[in-house]
Amino acid sequence: MASKKIVVLGTGGTIAGLAPHSGQGGPGHLAYRAGQVGVDRLLAVIPPLKGLPLLAEQLAQVDSKDMGPVVWQALAARCAHWLSDDDVQGLVITHGTDTLEETAYFLHRVLAPHKPVVLTCAMRPADALAPDGPQNLVDAVAVAQSSGAQGVVAVCAGQVHSAIDVAKVHPYRLDAFSSGDAGPIAWVEAGQLRLLRSWPVAADGRADLLAAAVARHSPTAWPSVEIVLNHAGADGRIVDALVGAGVHGLVAAGTGNGTLSQMLEAALLRARESGVEVVRSTRCASGQVVPYRDDAIAVARGLSPVKARIALLLDLLVR
Ligand code: SIN
Repeated sequence: MASKKIVVLGTGGTIAGLAPHSGQGGPGHLAYRAGQVGVDRLLAVIPPLKGLPLLAEQLAQVDSKDMGPVVWQALAARCAHWLSDDDVQGLVITHGTDTLEETAYFLHRVLAPHKPVVLTCAMRPADALAPDGPQNLVDAVAVAQSSGAQGVVAVCAGQVHSAIDVAKVHPYRLDAFSSGDAGPIAWVEAGQLRLLRSWPVAADGRADLLAAAVARHSPTAWPSVEIVLNHAGADGRIVDALVGAGVHGLVAAGTGNGTLSQMLEAALLRARESGVEVVRSTRCASGQVVPYRDDAIAVARGLSPVKARIALLLDLLVR
């Protein structure tokens, strides 16, 4: 029986990056531009992928610091299209590392796929002396081909992370991602998957509703949701400015257990009075906010500020 296809969608990132002139990358690989090489070319130069049933499609070519609703809307539609094809076993998405966790969480919520959707990336550009992208791509394809694999995951440096837990935790190292307290869901070892825990599932049953809203609303008209940080001396003026600018939702990245300075909390409560939706998360890199019984501002339980922002954006989109 012929193996089913793996569709590889390219969106750009360092994995597709090049130094502007050959040799200018320098020893630190910093003088490069992300999103330069087509995904078909990235795949063509990786010997272990030769002969595999891969289908490449270039969806975007961006540095993921510029990722946002326009690409997300197109990506959600293309993923849904390919996931509904019986000849497709799974998807791989090449993506910049900087906002990978946001795209992963967004797709987790709007696709809730029963097939694997595997985001992968690189910390070094394609023309680096020792690029990490090719191995990450080989590992990502191995994960997408693994029997039983499902849900949205990220593969980097031999680890498989759930879209729910993954976060970029280092600006330079090759193993730049962590799943915090939860740990990775699997390791990829010489093309074999060593599964440690179960695949991520979107359990709220709202994926179809969210996907329809994502498709229906022009990306330029998606709700405006911003993140405000609690810090020593936070006085809440930023909140008043955002409310004045017409923000629809605010995520407060609180200190410790999601705590807020008195002035910031007062400003957020004023914002809520004026109709802005407000939730609390924590600026701590690991763990999650434990709610109080009489919380003034609801907790985005288990979500980092950037993922809480997407959750709130999607909530507002379906209102
Ligand atoms: C990007 O996120 O597109 C640039 C940085 C990276 O991919 O590592």
